[in-house]
Amino acid sequence: MPELTSRLFELYGKRWNFYRILDKLADILQKAGKEYQEPDADCDTEWYLSEQQAGYVLYVDLFAENFNGLIKKIPYLQGLGITYVHLMPLFKCPEKESDGGYAVSSYRETDPKLGTISDLKTALKEFHRAGIRVVVDFVFNHTSDEHTWALKAKQGSQFYRNFYFIYKDKSDADDWNRTLREIFPEVRRGSFTYVKEAGGWVWTTFNPFQWDLNYSNPDVFLAMCAEMLSLANLGVDVLRLDALAFIWKKKNTCCENLPEAHTLIQAFQYAARIAAPGLVFKSEAIVHPDEVTRYIGPEECRLSYNPLQMALFWEALAARDTRLLQSSLKKRWAIPGGCAWVNYIRCHDDIGWTFSDEDAGKLGINGYSHRQFLNKFYTDRFDGSFARGVPFQLNPKTGDCRICGTMASLAGLEDAYELHKKQDPRAELYAEMAVKRIIMIYTVLAALPGIPLIYSGDENAMINDYSYQVDKSRKDDSRWVHRIPFNKTAVSDSWLSARQTQITAAIRKIIRCRKTEKLFGHAGIYFHNLQDSHVFGFTRFLDHECIHVVADFSEQNCLYKIGDRTLHLGPYDVITLKESI
Ligand code: GLC
Repeated sequence: MPELTSRLFELYGKRWNFYRILDKLADILQKAGKEYQEPDADCDTEWYLSEQQAGYVLYVDLFAENFNGLIKKIPYLQGLGITYVHLMPLFKCPEKESDGGYAVSSYRETDPKLGTISDLKTALKEFHRAGIRVVVDFVFNHTSDEHTWALKAKQGSQFYRNFYFIYKDKSDADDWNRTLREIFPEVRRGSFTYVKEAGGWVWTTFNPFQWDLNYSNPDVFLAMCAEMLSLANLGVDVLRLDALAFIWKKKNTCCENLPEAHTLIQAFQYAARIAAPGLVFKSEAIVHPDEVTRYIGPEECRLSYNPLQMALFWEALAARDTRLLQSSLKKRWAIPGGCAWVNYIRCHDDIGWTFSDEDAGKLGINGYSHRQFLNKFYTDRFDGSFARGVPFQLNPKTGDCRICGTMASLAGLEDAYELHKKQDPRAELYAEMAVKRIIMIYTVLAALPGIPLIYSGDENAMINDYSYQVDKSRKDDSRWVHRIPFNKTAVSDSWLSARQTQITAAIRKIIRCRKTEKLFGHAGIYFHNLQDSHVFGFTRFLDHECIHVVADFSEQNCLYKIGDRTLHLGPYDVITLKESI
């Protein structure tokens, strides 16, 4: 409580009625705390550091239609070795467009297409019974424009207008816009949307129907705290803090990663620690790597996506050059004790090139041109590229964009398949390389400290689905190219399905192997000094044992020295070598 109070004092202490804020908060905590079910006393509070963990992220409707279908698919997930499932937004949202559910209209009602709150609770119980922890999104930067608060704001309630940023005068919006980065520039320029019913310009960092909340108003913190605890009381284990870099706004700043954003997250965290102590926060900060780590720690998020590892895996694959990967992870891997990275290669979102320009500069790589190269490479506009990706949010002002596509399409399987259909003799070799590339990436992922996360469908190496381009509500959001109904992953073409089956079997085996090796769990890591710019190498160590992991990110044969041993790596080979120390 002293920690919580001090964070709130920093944010709201100048208000004459500060004591009233604490009073209201105490009520919220007490009420929620009574409903909270403590996790088992003997449960490992640092479970996420174990080699037993393997993660999976899915949209309920795409994966299993609804909560009942989801329960039926638990054995499938168990078979894959999954122990952590992120169920993407489940709550009521606008019917027409909802940013895949990331525009929440009520945190207390589920999307009726998926089932009821009680169905969801049943599914959560079933997951727990199967030894799988559940992650749910806390979309707290914005609500949908159909949330009761937004509806009341549109009707003129001043109390609820103060929940958002609504300006009658365009110049007020322009004033903010001057220093803001455009997040969805294809949707609209600037970060404000004129909303007629609201009689003004509304702050909408993402889509026009996602209204940013104004946390400088303590009533917003109180209201969202109650919503957060209601999610905890459904029985979820982890809350994924969506778009957390944007939650505090201050004039003349870029309004990302502000110190007050950290204070606010700490306030939420301490509130959760009082009323729902088993709850773990996971950060979704897809920003500069210096900023990503600032959200990680026992006071904020104990788990975090690892966007640097993700982006640099793709970067190294395109460049056939591991220098930036090796040096950046060496420099930036460390995070506070008791915290873990969630390592991934694909998720439901785009790939942004969030490496540090300073790190790249030290290697003589120009960040801007390198991003231009990567964008070309992954959208098949670079000679010899194996990737079939689609650009996302091309910024006409900067030429910048991000990349969409499934793991298999970005790693070359779709390209090989297209060649096969044209009876091009190169198809076999290209497919072989794509399969090896994919298996190498998952092997390395599973050997890193933290939770390896699989994006649903990638375990079956599904390739891009371009049907979103003819769907009116989706055609402008290319992320739908990799948001595909799970049953669509079964293809009728035997050439493709043979390769996909090979990848599925390999991924299952990788997860099984990870679980049999303690050194892939709580053990330490050090990244090797670079020997060969095609090879990425690190060592995990614990007590008197260590395991070296060495991976070739290219089609070249390479030699690599570990002590006095020389390892021979073929294209995309991974070698692990265990030793006593
Ligand atoms: C997060 C989600 C993304 C969504 C955005 C706005 O980045 O992962 O899908 O568009 O937040 O909620």
